[in-house]
Amino acid sequence: MSLKESIEAVRNSFRAALAAFPTDPQQVEALRIKYLGRKGLVADLFSKMATLDPSEKPLYGKLLNQLKKELTTAFEEKVKEVERKDTKSAQEQADYTLPGLYYPVGSYHPLQQTLDTIKSIFKSIGFSVAYGPEVDDDYHNFQALNIPKHHPARDMQDTFFIDDNTVLRTHTSNVQIHLMENQEPPLRYIVPGRVYRNEAISFKSFCLFHQVEGLFVDKYVPFTELKGTLEYFIRQMFGDDKKIRFRPSFFPFTEPSGEFDIWDDERRQWMEILGCGMVDPAVFKNVGYDPEIWHGYAFGMGVERIAMLKYKIQDIRHFYQGDVRFLEQF
Ligand code: PHE
Repeated sequence: MSLKESIEAVRNSFRAALAAFPTDPQQVEALRIKYLGRKGLVADLFSKMATLDPSEKPLYGKLLNQLKKELTTAFEEKVKEVERKDTKSAQEQADYTLPGLYYPVGSYHPLQQTLDTIKSIFKSIGFSVAYGPEVDDDYHNFQALNIPKHHPARDMQDTFFIDDNTVLRTHTSNVQIHLMENQEPPLRYIVPGRVYRNEAISFKSFCLFHQVEGLFVDKYVPFTELKGTLEYFIRQMFGDDKKIRFRPSFFPFTEPSGEFDIWDDERRQWMEILGCGMVDPAVFKNVGYDPEIWHGYAFGMGVERIAMLKYKIQDIRHFYQGDVRFLEQF
């Protein structure tokens, strides 16, 4: 569970506890201690902040302070309300003609569900999860990945520029560079995240989408391991019957490069779900790894497309419209 989900979980369980508020003062105090006590659930969430990336701390600090304030106020109000009611008899308080309370049950967004499945498959085979910046400099998004300025390969990904030197990342591959700049090999990571492209919008392309990047660097990394790992992933995700295809492709930062396609039964056509390849020695040089010693593979998959194939979703735009009739189905 992410910290955000944990916050929601505490908030929801507290709301449920308020709805079934105890009458016995000892139980009321126990409830207060459970949520708001020095070692309560809220304090526990605060202590988890230590594990966060420093860049995430301000946001979570804010969310947690809000939660604490909200819970404290709601609790105090409830206590006051109960004290007022206590002056009436039990008979007077109960109105058995009132309709019952309806608590709609939420669910995780289909993209979150897909991301969780992807993460758990890769975690089970030794990958760690890392994150990186969505707004990045030209160097990390392009140049370090062997895509120089004015190179035609830039046309592969239409870019939103913040200024001349700053972009909304067009892929999660920028995090490959950050990871390698900050640690020594070997390493094995997946990197989920949002990416942005100024593309023509269609049923399978949107200006915002999600990718999961993969990076594995070690001394002995054969191409077959890349292919085998990705095939294993696809089988875990889609089962053994799905028709898949692996074909050669081109990316400036991998050599050789390939792409995996999945047969889309609904549209009766191939759908590309990921690009991959062996890390180009030029990329290793850019981060100061010796390409004579270190080898690696990388991949980047489109989360929306995987979710579309898995759940038979016809249009990528559904993910971003927040239509309850769509969301309810997951
Ligand atoms: N970054 C590529 C894309 O967005 C995918 C990719 C990642 C390809 C890693 C090779 C290696 O299309």
